[in-house]
Amino acid sequence: MSRVDGREKVTGAAKYSAEYKLHGLVYGILVGSTIAKGHIKSIDTHSALKAPGVLSVITHQNSPKIPGYQVSKDPAKPEPTKGPVKVFYNDKVIYYGQPIALVIADTFERALYAASLVKAHYTVEQHVTSLKEHIKNAFVPHGDDPDVRGTANVWRSAPVKVEAQYVLPNEVHNPMELHGTIAHWGQADKITVWTKTQGVKDTQSNIAKIFKLPVQNVQVNSKFVGGAFGSGLQVWPHEVAAIIGAKVVGRPVKLVLGRADMFTSVGYRPLTWQKIGIGASADGKLVGIHHQAIGQTSAYEDFAEGPTGVSQSLYACPNVYINNKIVSLNIGSPTWMRGPGEATGILALESALDELSYKLKLDPVALRIHNHADKDPGSGKPYSGKNLKEAYKLGADAIGWNNRRQKPRSVIKDGWLVGYGMAGGVFGAYRDTATIKATMLANGTLMLKSAVSDIGPGTGTAMVSIASGVMGIPPNKIRFDLGDSSFPNAPQQGGSATVSTVGSAVYQACTDLKQKFQQLTGRAGDKHDYVKALKQHNLSQLEVTADSKAGNETKQFAMYSWSVHFVSVLVHPTTGVVKVDKAVCVADSGRIVSPKTARSQMVGGAVMGIGMALSEEAVIDHRYGKTINNNLADYHVPVNADIPQIEAIFVNIPDKNVNPIGAKGMGEIALIGMAPAVANAVYNATGKRIRQLPITPDKLV
Ligand code: MOS
Repeated sequence: MSRVDGREKVTGAAKYSAEYKLHGLVYGILVGSTIAKGHIKSIDTHSALKAPGVLSVITHQNSPKIPGYQVSKDPAKPEPTKGPVKVFYNDKVIYYGQPIALVIADTFERALYAASLVKAHYTVEQHVTSLKEHIKNAFVPHGDDPDVRGTANVWRSAPVKVEAQYVLPNEVHNPMELHGTIAHWGQADKITVWTKTQGVKDTQSNIAKIFKLPVQNVQVNSKFVGGAFGSGLQVWPHEVAAIIGAKVVGRPVKLVLGRADMFTSVGYRPLTWQKIGIGASADGKLVGIHHQAIGQTSAYEDFAEGPTGVSQSLYACPNVYINNKIVSLNIGSPTWMRGPGEATGILALESALDELSYKLKLDPVALRIHNHADKDPGSGKPYSGKNLKEAYKLGADAIGWNNRRQKPRSVIKDGWLVGYGMAGGVFGAYRDTATIKATMLANGTLMLKSAVSDIGPGTGTAMVSIASGVMGIPPNKIRFDLGDSSFPNAPQQGGSATVSTVGSAVYQACTDLKQKFQQLTGRAGDKHDYVKALKQHNLSQLEVTADSKAGNETKQFAMYSWSVHFVSVLVHPTTGVVKVDKAVCVADSGRIVSPKTARSQMVGGAVMGIGMALSEEAVIDHRYGKTINNNLADYHVPVNADIPQIEAIFVNIPDKNVNPIGAKGMGEIALIGMAPAVANAVYNATGKRIRQLPITPDKLV
């Protein structure tokens, strides 16, 4: 089954948030601060206001008071020191690029020009933006205390051990679709927004909170999302600014970020330093793991990925110590990015396992099988379903693992060093609560409604596929409507849980609807002529609304999805250029509901992992606290020429302990482990262990 919205997407008929044409629409452009810390002394908006077509320039000096920003007069309730940045709230600057003004004009070009005329003068304070220089200020974020299983330091006295430090740089989501919002105030304090978000319900309630409106007064639409990878999980300053702007000018305002703003104001994966120590017995059984991570956060929010959790869950190991810390810097807040935490932590864990395999003279796959966890090492619970050994075998066969030579730098082909590497990934398999309204129309069309977003994986396609299976009608008779906050409840699309959560609700609603038809016709069984039944009973439609949530299984079982990535690389010995030659990515994520979109998800994760391994790094110039490669020419996401043949393989064994469909998430595991697989292949090719990503040619020559 192909994507239900594939035709709309490739013909341009699919409408993204910034593409709605509203009567009287005007355009907003944000002006960002050009210092990283200090105060705005004065802000000159005169020339901007005089520029052609300009309707308004909003700054902290003239912004309407935002009800949710106001602090209690009660001295017993002081203003919290941490929290999301307040837009146009006061003269304080806490990161470079922080929005300090919004220019609104009748055309995009006029707004852009006028924005260039806004000039701010600052009282500059000394900023801190370097994690390396300020790592001594690291602290344990609230609720993320160090955790120890067994004895923390026993790994040190193990017969075989490795210890090393790893650095993962700032990485930016960089979805193709820029973040953008159209805000439109209607009658009686009602607001409608079209915005790029991973959850219309969350955006709705957050906007309601900021503007102190009843939730039902806020309508959020997000029908198509051109990628988000975590950057759409919260309400960002530009969304609040668009809403403020629309209020001020009394017209709908469209505000689309430029690519440069995508590097400052909508989050990123934080630069993280890690140190890992692993000890093993002489025959390769893990004795202990000691894993520390220090990531960066902003001065206003304590964002922590918690990268080291993977060391607790991936392998059977009696002694595991983990510790996550963060450092506050004058930068925009980081946020969740695909495989948040795990994708970072796995770099250290799976690189260390690889290193250990060379010390032990064991095949890396054999070492992992040797330390396979048969039950969850943390909780001792049985797994809801785990077929990781099958995944190892499928991947090893497909890449031709037996062509690998254990001795690094031992294979040369046409002047290129050849290497093979592998690494695994793990991510929790979640199921949240959701509601679906299912309506069978007289013409035999089944309508399903859910507030859920589709940020690209093909949610509608998976849902239609599930409904088609339960109802016994073809996919082209089913419509799945999403991305509207007035629709039945669904959580954000995040944490790889949509098929599990919303899919289970679709399953439930369709099961209930079928039962309703059975009661109507008095006929049991799977085959139903819905059109005939409605006609005979003189009904224009039949409708059910069903809720669905996880049961007690979460208490009984440990639930995860697993992946294994196998990679072969070619490294040029003179130039240090790395070409990924082939990648095989295997997922053990329960039943595959929609094979085509699942494959696309795995391939997308592998591409992102290749970028993570070889090219992606957002660089801050610490003199100014500014990200300097803030465009797609200098920040290198992989392009077609960087991507080899990628094979996606699914173990495809249902896990019905997680949900009735038996499907588990795969959005995150598609990425988790891919970067260390590439790094491990580079080591096998060259004998060089690159511990600071990305592995650019200069690090190899
Ligand atoms: Mo994901 S980082 O839960 O969008």
